[in-house]
Amino acid sequence: MMAKPNQKIKVLFVCLGNICRSTMAEAVLRHMVRQAGLEERVAVDSAGTGDYHIGEPPHKGTRKILEREGIPWEGITARQICRADLDDFTYIIGMDEENLRRIRRLSAPEHEERLHLLSDFAEGDWTQVPDPWYTGDFHLTYQLVEDGCKGLMKALL
Ligand code: 4NP
Repeated sequence: MMAKPNQKIKVLFVCLGNICRSTMAEAVLRHMVRQAGLEERVAVDSAGTGDYHIGEPPHKGTRKILEREGIPWEGITARQICRADLDDFTYIIGMDEENLRRIRRLSAPEHEERLHLLSDFAEGDWTQVPDPWYTGDFHLTYQLVEDGCKGLMKALL
């Protein structure tokens, strides 16, 4: 779904805790948007379906990878998705199918066209971003997040 001309496109990444995957995607896409000079046109945010980490900064593993890549993360803090987000955001992008299932508990049928998986935009042959909270593999998460965000940038442009 595209925003109307001159309307700001708003992207919300969603995972479970909002400290590992969606927070990484927020930092990565925001960096790409800034590099493309599109900050006035595209807003980027993230949220978790769970409330476990509200107010916390990104996970240490996420921070480490972002710092390695020279991508700022400062100022990002975890929050929980709410019903108003479904009306507010143009693209609501889950990291895995379970995230989408939980988002659908809050959403109405008219929101359906806003809901996506990050892998919908990816070039690579994958479907879900594995959760590094459990796998410990922040490097793989970064590779998939980068692939998905590159494809998303193309879609936005
Ligand atoms: P995320 O990872 O959904 O990628 O932020 C998780 C972070 C925390 C928990 C689960 C997943 N947790 O259960 O606290």
